[in-house]
Amino acid sequence: MAILKIARMGHPVLARVAEPVKDPTGPEIRRLVADMVETMIDANGAGLAAPQVHVPLRVIVFQAPEGRTDPGFSQAERYDHTAPLTVLINPEIEVVDPAPEGGWEGCLSVPGLRGYVERPAHIRYRGVGPDGRPVERTARGFHARVVQHEMDHLSGILYPQRMKDMRQFIFESEVQHWLKADGE
Ligand code: NI
Repeated sequence: MAILKIARMGHPVLARVAEPVKDPTGPEIRRLVADMVETMIDANGAGLAAPQVHVPLRVIVFQAPEGRTDPGFSQAERYDHTAPLTVLINPEIEVVDPAPEGGWEGCLSVPGLRGYVERPAHIRYRGVGPDGRPVERTARGFHARVVQHEMDHLSGILYPQRMKDMRQFIFESEVQHWLKADGE
């Protein structure tokens, strides 16, 4: 395994549409996925898309840990809000509820910054795992946000392009001021 170099905003690989993977269980994809997981964990990210490591293929990895979930949720709700470390090859997304939900996002390709982005609050996604088996889940909250953010990378879209108000494009060190203002 290896820690890969992460492309930063402005690199053309981040702006192109990624290609479908022909053989999801092939040895090259297995190696890519292992390296992406190692790179994401090393960089302390919640998700990573293959174009971010200069590979223009439709592969994403992400996790939505329990700590990001409201402890008041029921078991069923919590399941939608959390995801174990997940690898999705050739993923597809379907909006279940288009009602927008806002949240702060960051991106390993846009280091040091955060932006407030509205996205559909409830989605369903499907794809193929690295073992070749289909994966299908519904997602809400942070889980839905991270999947949509990673999917955007496969379309050549970075989160600042989703922002409505550029006053909410800020340095990480200043997030505290906004969280206070939100009463969070
Ligand atoms: Ni990103």
